Amino acid sequence: MRIIVGVTGGIAAYKATSIIRQLTEAGHSVKVIPTANALRFIGATTLEALSHNTVDPDLYTDVDSVKHVALGQEADLVLVAPATAAFLGRYAAGIADDLLLNTLLVTKAPVVVAPAMHTEMWNHPSTQENVATLEERGVRVMVPAEGRLTGADYGIGRLPEPEEIVKFALANYPVSSLAGKHFVVTAGGTQEPIDPVRFIGNHSSGKQGIAIAREAKARGARVTLIAANLEDSNEFDAQLNVHTAAELQAAVAATLSEATVLVMTAAVSDFKVANGAEQKLKRAELFAEQSSIQITLEQNPDILADAVAQLAADNSKCITVGFAAETAGGEALEKFAQHKLASKGCHILVANDVSNGAVFGAETNDTLILTKSGRAVSAKGSKALVAAELLDVIESELA
Ligand code: CTP
Repeated sequence: MRIIVGVTGGIAAYKATSIIRQLTEAGHSVKVIPTANALRFIGATTLEALSHNTVDPDLYTDVDSVKHVALGQEADLVLVAPATAAFLGRYAAGIADDLLLNTLLVTKAPVVVAPAMHTEMWNHPSTQENVATLEERGVRVMVPAEGRLTGADYGIGRLPEPEEIVKFALANYPVSSLAGKHFVVTAGGTQEPIDPVRFIGNHSSGKQGIAIAREAKARGARVTLIAANLEDSNEFDAQLNVHTAAELQAAVAATLSEATVLVMTAAVSDFKVANGAEQKLKRAELFAEQSSIQITLEQNPDILADAVAQLAADNSKCITVGFAAETAGGEALEKFAQHKLASKGCHILVANDVSNGAVFGAETNDTLILTKSGRAVSAKGSKALVAAELLDVIESELA
């Protein structure tokens, strides 16, 4: 999901780094909006590195994207940690004089605030009245922890531990928009054996597929991950581990009839080695009388196209999503993508330009999402953000 983390200017601002790290590691797309004073305690570079996202709290840059409105409209959750007494006052009074407060006044997403300040400031009637006002408006305010404060002071006002804040914040996210839906997501890259030791593979890391599976899970779907040469995890409702295209096709076939959505993120080898050797091929034997060998490659099935045909034959309403890894950008990418959308027959196609190692193994992606119904959506940023944008498109297709 898309989470905005607001950071305001208190000594506990450094703890926001741990909150941001935990949220990104849990697969969320995080956009950090520090206040000007927060940047006196912590650097924008640190926040950018941890969130995998740009940090620019200036209201007057990037004005053409209308970011003072767009960020709040797109957010699924806004968390402000730490929140100072001054911030609570400005928020309660509706003083939208920076990007964070503009975003908060625009958003319809749940808002969670974690205050941190000295005991006297927390107990002051004006702070307590501001908290009461915000709570009346639906903002969830965490009670600060008791403990050591800045200097020698001790009492209530300490920022709760980052783990507690993350848990509290995520508990406020409505997770039911995909309840009752079953997502089958393929991820990773297939490997076609030459012999028991060697294979023909590809560079897919599986990160985008896993981000999509996580986003579907976060929205309440049941998720089956078909993992091509990825590590085992118990994050999802089921994980089927496969190696070759044939195994991947069998796993898709076994789950298809129960799927509401099939997302084919996996990079499937279009060919396999004819007569793969049972025993390791020995170098001395291979090159005893020649300095080159030939490997014959046979065509693999087009798993996505076959699944689309099967679903049509079954009169299924399952939404199918294909990916197009192309080595072209701009108009050429869109042309290839439109062609692949039609040739595969899927409902949605996500195209990306994988040239120059820009995508494989990276934390970010730059995609064009096309639908059979004629929509074109650009999604660029962390793989979690691209997953959230894609899930929005899938949800509107399901509706
Ligand atoms: N795909 C598939 N079976 C294959 C090859 C690809 O199901 N044998 C799926 C991929 O999972 C992806 C989509 O089809 O969702 C497009 O994959 P891509 O490799 O971009 O395209 P290809 O079909 O291989 O076409 P081309 O090689 O011409 O780009």
